[in-house]
Parts: sequence; structure tokens; C-alpha cells
Amino acid sequence: QTLDMQIEALEKNGYEHFMLKEIHEQPTTIYDAMRGRISSKENRVTLRGLEEYANRFVRANRIIIVACGTSYHSGLIGEYLIEDLARIPVEVEYASEFRYRNPIINERDIVIALSQSGETADTMAALELAKSKGAMIYGIVNAVGSSIARLTDAGSYIHAGPEIGVASTKAFTGQVTVLTLLALSMAQKLSTISKTTFQTLVTELERIPEKVKECLSANDHIRYIAKEIKHHHNALYLGRGYNFPVALEGALKLKEISYIHAEGYPAAEMKHGPIALIDETMPVIVTATNRSAYEKIVSNVQEVLARKGMVIAVVNEGETAISAIANHVITVPNTEEQLSPLLSVIPLQLLSYHIAVELGRNVDQPRNLAKSVTVE
Ligand code: AGP
Repeated sequence: QTLDMQIEALEKNGYEHFMLKEIHEQPTTIYDAMRGRISSKENRVTLRGLEEYANRFVRANRIIIVACGTSYHSGLIGEYLIEDLARIPVEVEYASEFRYRNPIINERDIVIALSQSGETADTMAALELAKSKGAMIYGIVNAVGSSIARLTDAGSYIHAGPEIGVASTKAFTGQVTVLTLLALSMAQKLSTISKTTFQTLVTELERIPEKVKECLSANDHIRYIAKEIKHHHNALYLGRGYNFPVALEGALKLKEISYIHAEGYPAAEMKHGPIALIDETMPVIVTATNRSAYEKIVSNVQEVLARKGMVIAVVNEGETAISAIANHVITVPNTEEQLSPLLSVIPLQLLSYHIAVELGRNVDQPRNLAKSVTVE
């Protein structure tokens, strides 16, 4: 063994791949993203970057989130969170589209960039454009001292530690955690949610790292499911509301490391086209951990099964309707709907990981991909 190989083995800490290690780090990294920033006892959420610009935040007309890839997906969850809790309009855009379409931006806008590496060229360029139009620019970044962290007026690090696997996992949950804190802090300042709701969400957020541990304990069961579906050439991921971006993220994870074609869709959109794809060769991964629209997700599952699709369902503990009919069921602990992506994404990360391993893919360095995309 060369020295490099020995160092790498040490860095992997007993895990076969960095991606698996990083998936398993999430109870800690989510905790680290909130450490010092949240206290249910004191009933507070404090993000220093936000406090510095509190006036700009509470007077903002609009928040625009720019990002690429997985970071874009966490941005979509940020949109649901901020609109739902703080009642400020949010737009989420692929940084590459935003920068080239002559967007309308002004001084009352806040542009938030999400980036693990802090070096993504398109995200940088989008921020520079926003800054030149007078918007305040905020970064939610992992890499300390990176270009985006230095360019922004203020920001919050996610503190996930180095992410080596090209497929982003712990950065995603770190970003969602910080976005949750941001939405809660704004909601408190703007009095857009009741004290009880605030207290409930803060208390529940503190419990998330423990619940992520429970999600990880499904690893062996998920490996078994991976063996069942690895030979398929396509997969469809469905989710609604807070779990629609989770469907997009699950599909991206599968594509990039297993090279299986996958698409994420809002479950209700299925009838507007993708349902035509469904037959016995199409595994459909449904995230059904929402409380709202639950009945509708049940009927989406029935529609897939009626067309002989194979359903792999991610449901809450104690769920019965979908568990009784789906081909495979993965359970995650119950939580508040706003926090459900932090749990439901875990089995999807594990599923793509195990499928890729089964297929003998290079999990940590998939073909054609770089960890950070510093060119256009
Ligand atoms: C995710 O698994 C990807 N490899 C990729 O989509 C990534 O999220 C994207 O390139 C954005 O990177 P960033 O977060 O470092 O800006």
C-alpha cells in the first residue's frame, strides 16, 4: 500500500467510501450546523450574519436564492420554509439561468447563495450581478474562507467539515438546517408564527440529529432494496410539498453515482405526462412523510401500482395505508412537516449509494464530474 492509500483509508474512518462516511456523519454535522445558534430552553434562534443585517432582512421585499445542483434543491426547501414561516416571497433559481436572463433586482432584495464549495463559477457570477444591482448578498457556504464566503456581505457557514465524495450529502442537510434557522429567526422577528409554533419547531429541530441516527439504522434493509432494483434502467422519484425537492435530490443522487436515468417529479404532476412511462420496468420511489396531502399521495401510489410499477415508499413510523400496498417500505421517525426533508432524504442517499456499489461504480469520483465546478 502506498502512503496515499493509507492516508485515504484513515480519512475514511473504516467506511468503504467517503460518501458512506459522510452520510453517517449527518447526526453530527446537523448538530454542528445548529450548535450555539439555537436553544429551546431560551426559546431563541440566532444566526450572527442575519443579526448584523436584521434591518435588511425584516424589510426585504423578496429573497432570491441562487445555487446549482444539490444546493439548488436545498434552496427549494428554503423557499418552502421562508414563505411558510416568515411570509416573505422567495424565488429560487439555477445560478446559471439567473445570471444570463437580465433579472429584475433592487436594493430591497436579498440574494442568498447556497454552495458547499463556495467556488462554483455560476453561483459566484450570479452573486456579482446581484451585488452590482445593489442587493444585499448572503452566503450559506461550507468551505470556510472560500470565494463566495469572501464575496458576500454576510453569511452563515454550515460547519459540515470537508465533503470529499462528489455526491453531496452532508452539505445538503447542513444547508437545509441553516435555512430552517434562517426562516425561524425571520419568523420570530416578523411575528409571522405563534410562540407555540416557534417553540415546537425549535424543540423538534434539536431532536433531528437523534432521528437521523434512526434513519441510518435502515442501512441493511436499504442495501437489500438496492439489490432488487439495481438492474432497472430508469427510476422515478415522487414527492409533494416539502418533499418534492427531496424527490429531485434523490433522482440526482441516483443519476450521478449509478448512471441510472432518474427523474424527480411533484407527485401530482405524474398524471400530466410521466404516468405514461409506468410499467413493470419502472421503480417509483415515493416520499410520503407529509401530513398534508397525505391522502393524495396514497392515491398516487395506487395509480402507480395499478400500472404495475414497483413502489418503494418512504413513510413515517406507524403508517399503514401505503405500507400495506407498496413493494418495499422504508420507515423514518415522525417529525414536524417543515423538518421532514432532513429525515426523508437519508434513505434516498443510502439507496443511491448501495445501488452504485452493487453496480461497481466509482462512488466517490463518478465519471465526468468534478467536486466543484469552477468553470461555466
Ligand atoms: C451534487 O451531488 C453535485 N455533485 C453537484 O450538483 C453540486 O451540488 C453542485 O455542483 C453545486 O456545488 P456547490 O454546492 O459546491 O456550489
